[in-house]
Amino acid sequence: MRLNSEVDGMVRKGFYIATMGCQMNEYDSDFLAHTLISYGYQPVSSPGNADIVFINTCTVREKADQKAVSLLGRMVRLKARRPGMVLGVMGCLAQREGKRLFHRFPQLDMVVGPRELPNIHSMLDAVLCQKKKLIATHLDLPPLNRSKIHQIQERKVSAYVSIMQGCDNFCTYCIVPYVRGREISRPPHDIIEEARFLIRQGVKEITLLGQNVNSYLWDDHTGSYDFVSLLQKFKDVEGLVRLRFTTSHPKDLSEDLMFCFQDLNMLCPHIHLPFQAGSNEVLRRMKRGYSREQYIALVERLREVVPNIAITSDVMVGFPGESAKDFEETLDLMEKIGFDSLFSFKYSDREGTVAAHMGHKISEEEKSRRLDRLQSLQKDMTLRKNRFLEGKQVSILAEGQSKKGGQMTGRTDTNKIVNFSSDTNKIGTIVKVTIKSAFVHSLRGEPVR
Ligand code: 5AD
Ligand code: SF4
Repeated sequence: MRLNSEVDGMVRKGFYIATMGCQMNEYDSDFLAHTLISYGYQPVSSPGNADIVFINTCTVREKADQKAVSLLGRMVRLKARRPGMVLGVMGCLAQREGKRLFHRFPQLDMVVGPRELPNIHSMLDAVLCQKKKLIATHLDLPPLNRSKIHQIQERKVSAYVSIMQGCDNFCTYCIVPYVRGREISRPPHDIIEEARFLIRQGVKEITLLGQNVNSYLWDDHTGSYDFVSLLQKFKDVEGLVRLRFTTSHPKDLSEDLMFCFQDLNMLCPHIHLPFQAGSNEVLRRMKRGYSREQYIALVERLREVVPNIAITSDVMVGFPGESAKDFEETLDLMEKIGFDSLFSFKYSDREGTVAAHMGHKISEEEKSRRLDRLQSLQKDMTLRKNRFLEGKQVSILAEGQSKKGGQMTGRTDTNKIVNFSSDTNKIGTIVKVTIKSAFVHSLRGEPVR
C-alpha cells in the first residue's frame, strides 16, 4: 500500500493528530503539528489517509482514560489495515502508563510524554528509519520554546501561549503533578517573542496557559519576574487586542493581579478560578489551601476592584467522604458567588494520588444524582446571567463562521460566545453587537449600525 500523499509534485508524508483534554494539550498538539510541517510533513483531514497518527491523551479523570483507550483501539485496528502507518501516543496518559501501553497495544510505535515533545523529530527518525519502538517519558526537561517554529497551520484569531508547565500543589485528588511534573516557568523573553510571532501571523487574542499561572516565577541576569510583572510586559506588545490567562489558583491570587485588570486595557475581565468544593472539611481533605469563607471574600474583593468581571470555575462532586451536607454547601457557595459558567465533574480515583486511598467512597449513582442537581442549578444561573445581557451592546472579537450556517461567531471580553449575522467578513476585528437573545451556551446578537 502506498501511504504518501503527493503535493506540488513532491511526495510528503501525511500526519493526523487527535487531541483530547485541556488547552495545554491543544497547545502541545499545535506545537507538534508545526514541528512536523517544518520538517516537510503535511496535515491530512482523516487518520485513514495519514502515514503518522498521534493521539494526544488526557488522564485527569477515569472517563478521559476510557476515551483515550477506546480511540487507541480503533487506531490499532486501522493500523492493521495500513501496515506502514506509524502510531504514537502522547500526553498525560502516555506519561502515566509508559511502557505498559506497549504491553497492552503491541502495535504502538511511540509513547511520548508532554515534556519530551521538543525531541520529536529525532524520535520519528528512529521510528521511521530504524524501525525502532520508542518510549520517552522524562519529566526533568526544560519547557518548550515554540517561537523558533516559523510557520502556522491556519490563520487564527486567538492562540495559546504556555508560560509554565507542571504543578507543585498536589491537591489530593489530582494526577497532574505526577504526569506534568514540577512547575517550570518559561523565560519572559521567549513568551513575548512567541506572542509577537503569533501577532505577525494575524493573531489578535492571546491566552496565557499554565496549571497555576499565579505561581509564574523567573529570575535571571535580566531581572526577576512574577506573573504580574510578566503581564506588564505585554503593554509593549504592539497589535495585541486581547489578553487572557488560565488557570488561577485561589490561594495565590494577589491584589496586584486584581489591579492588572484596571491597569492593562487589553486584559479581558474574565477569570477562571476553580473552587472544587464548598465545604471546609472537603476543601481541607482536598488540600486546596483555602476555606469557603476565604474563597467568598476573594471573589468579593475581586468584584470591588473589577466590577464587571466574569467568573468561571471548576467543581467536583462525590469526593471521598463528601456528605449530603457537604454537597449542600457546594450548592450554597455556587448561589452565593453566581458563576458565569462552571465545569463540573464526578470525582474519580486516580491511581497514586492520596485521595485514591481515602475511605468512604461515594457510589456512582449518588455522584450522578449530585452532578445532575448541581448542573441544573448552574444552568438556571448561567441563563439568568446571559439574559441580563439582552438588549445591551457588547464588543465581540469575531473569530470565524458559526457552526450554524450564514452566521459569524465571536466572544465578548467576558468570554461569552455570540453568534451574529454579517454581510461582510469581520474575522479578526472588534464588532459592536446588540444582544437579541440569550441561551445557556451562547448569545445571539445583531451588529450595531
Ligand atoms: N476526579 C474528578 N475531577 C478531577 N479534576 C481533577 N482531578 C479530578 C479527579 N480525580 C477536575 C478538577 C480540575 C479539573 C481540570 O479537573 O475540577 O480543576
Ligand atoms: Fe491538579 Fe491542584 Fe495542580 Fe490544579 S492546582 S493541576 S487541581 S494539583
